[in-house]
Amino acid sequence: MAHPKEVAGFKLGKLLIEGKTKQVFDLPEETGHCILINKDRITAGDGVKAHDMEGKAAISNQTNAKVFEILKAAGIPTAFVKIASPVAFISKKCDMVPIEWVTRRLATGSFLKRNPGVPEGYRFTPPKQETFFKDDANHDPQWSEEQIVSAKFTFNGLVIGQDEVDYMRNVTILVFEILEKAWGLRDCALIDMKIEFGVDADGKILLADVIDSDSWRLWPSGDKRLMVDKQVYRNLSTVTAADLDTVKRNFAWVKDQLDHLRPKVHHKVVIIMGSAADVEHCQKIGKAAKKFGLDVDMRVTSAHKATEETLHIMKQYEDTHGALVFIAVAGRSNGLGPVLSGNTSYPVINCPPPSSNLVQDIWSSLSLPSGLGCATVIYPDSAAVMAAQIIGVQDYIVWARIRFNQLEMAASLRVADKKVRNLSIE
Ligand SMILES: Nc1ncnc2c1ncn2[C@@H]1O[C@H](COP(=O)(O)OP(=O)(O)OP(=O)(O)O)[C@@H](O)[C@H]1O
Ligand SMILES: [Mg+2]
Repeated sequence: MAHPKEVAGFKLGKLLIEGKTKQVFDLPEETGHCILINKDRITAGDGVKAHDMEGKAAISNQTNAKVFEILKAAGIPTAFVKIASPVAFISKKCDMVPIEWVTRRLATGSFLKRNPGVPEGYRFTPPKQETFFKDDANHDPQWSEEQIVSAKFTFNGLVIGQDEVDYMRNVTILVFEILEKAWGLRDCALIDMKIEFGVDADGKILLADVIDSDSWRLWPSGDKRLMVDKQVYRNLSTVTAADLDTVKRNFAWVKDQLDHLRPKVHHKVVIIMGSAADVEHCQKIGKAAKKFGLDVDMRVTSAHKATEETLHIMKQYEDTHGALVFIAVAGRSNGLGPVLSGNTSYPVINCPPPSSNLVQDIWSSLSLPSGLGCATVIYPDSAAVMAAQIIGVQDYIVWARIRFNQLEMAASLRVADKKVRNLSIE
């Protein structure tokens, strides 16, 4: 394939890799970045079957960009930066981990051949995660976790050990679950998918390569006969122009559907404080909530001193928001949370401000009249996490951010554990 000198104003450096469906060029003027140019080419069976398909590059490019925008919004660290031209995008330049990370919700395809006796459609809960070494000549053999760790791959100074493998495995499953929830909004079942990771110049593991209609099996209404992914092409024994047209139409449909995969729910977290003196505590809640992508308002009103005003504010929010959570911040006797809870059908979280009398005051939040059900936490982070969990039930992007945060907490505990393990006891 030709080696262009420039794409959309980006001066191209040397060709880093040319695969079956993409060229990767260095970008000498954009340190640490490269450009991936899609080809109008469809292949299957390690390239044994291959056809030109005009327009595929543009469809793949847009499909990939839309998928990565969803994953970026969900907090996944990705190499994808932005679309550069109709058929090309800019990515962080990575040393690629030569492993295909496959996740399956239902057993089908090669899994059935490798696991005789398992019926097609067997449901994996949690999703099944498998790893394959990228080696076309040997048909990408399945590799165990032990094989990956033993290979001692080193990329940009990062040795791929057990922790790194665990991290990539967890992110792989999370990516699958995010996209499964996203496609669920269009009643499409994500059956399985493949992703790749790379290590950037700073030694950080990023979700890289592409995710497009080559990467997954997608069954509208969960019906295999309606499949809209590359399997349609794989299944063809002879390939006519009309067949290729059907495959392309499917890919274009998938690309268009991706515009409708953002959560449709309009959410709001309202932090109501009984006194402006509590604003610092409320700011901490708000800051923690924003890390989960939550839309936060702060208001001041007292349920004791301005009951009507408090209920008026509450009703204004009820009128305009689908997923709504109130966080009540009141010191001394907390009338605010219980009054809100007794008058709204939306969840209320009490998060009283720090005080030397907290042990006594907390009972005004805990010992509620019958028929009320507000929750009580004392740390700002806890209030934010709980609000996110409530909204995450309806908004998979928020749900994903909580999951990713949990992954990061587990990873930092491992770092701390490693340090402590190596300390000498004096
Ligand atoms: N951000 C990135 N930085 C560097 N290389 C990348 C990046 N993203 C993807 N790649 C690599 O670029 C190549 C893309 O080529 P392509 O997908 O066409 O390969 P392929 O023929 O499908 O073979 P493969 O089985 O390796 O994917 C792959 O080897 C992929 O790992
Ligand atoms: Mg590839």
